[in-house]
Amino acid sequence: MTQTDIALVTGGNKGIGKEIVRQLAQRGLTVYLAARNAALGAAAAAELAADGLDVRFVALDVTDADSVAAAAKQVEADSGRLDVLVNNAGIVAEWGTAVADITAEQVRTAYDVNVFGVVSAINAFVPLLRRSSNARIVNMSSGLGSVNLLSELDGRLATQGLLAYSSSKAALNALTLVYASALRADGIKVNAATPGLVPTDLNSQAAVPRGTRTVADGAAVPVALATLPADGPTGVFRGPQSLDDVAPW
Ligand SMILES: NC(=O)c1ccc[n+]([C@@H]2O[C@H](COP(=O)([O-])OP(=O)(O)OC[C@H]3O[C@@H](n4cnc5c(N)ncnc54)[C@H](OP(=O)(O)O)[C@@H]3O)[C@@H](O)[C@H]2O)c1
Repeated sequence: MTQTDIALVTGGNKGIGKEIVRQLAQRGLTVYLAARNAALGAAAAAELAADGLDVRFVALDVTDADSVAAAAKQVEADSGRLDVLVNNAGIVAEWGTAVADITAEQVRTAYDVNVFGVVSAINAFVPLLRRSSNARIVNMSSGLGSVNLLSELDGRLATQGLLAYSSSKAALNALTLVYASALRADGIKVNAATPGLVPTDLNSQAAVPRGTRTVADGAAVPVALATLPADGPTGVFRGPQSLDDVAPW
């Protein structure tokens, strides 16, 4: 008998995260839809469960250590282990601020979610991931976090001037590689995904056109990384179109 994989997606109440929850559940996984707002999270989970999917709400604010610990405790009590952790929760803190005016406080706010929040979640869930026979961590990064692409000073990414967001995702990319190296010993894969530009609440204040990619398009690569087979890669950065799309670090 094959075991049902158990996944948890942070920031699962809306946007690309909610779509990742849907697609993983459609593939037959049991999915914890984690959200910091209980009403929004429970409503999103109920909507997906009404479609016959095994989706369960768990409260989780990635900036609140007690909340992260309580979520891990709940998953342990209900499922005993975790196979997939998708660190999807993310924010932009500096829309509309000129680069030289972006404050350390704005940068800290972004890092609290996009960087430290990921460390907190990995800290809390690694003990449960160690109990999986094929554990996968997927970090939701961005082309805006690619140091390679940012090195084109006149390029589309550097000129967006998202100092806090870009540097937080670059830090996330570095975290991905260091975790990938260290957690190989536990058989845990750690990879990063770029979903491409998808119009969501995250970028509703963007000055640049947001394109026409759907949340389903954006969820495809993170879902593929979340469902890698046991012999799949670790320490890779992929997207936005497909798993074969190698994104530059
Ligand atoms: N959209 C794009 O074009 C794009 C491109 C590249 C990368 N990404 C990345 O993709 C991921 C999803 O973004 P999205 O576009 O789907 O954005 P979104 O619709 O704004 O969703 C962001 C999610 O993160 C949650 N979140 C924010 N702070 C949190 C916290 N402290 N604890 C837990 N959850 C928190 C939000 O919850 P609330 O509803 O409570 O605020 C929401 O569920 C992010 O990591 C983003 O950086 C997006």
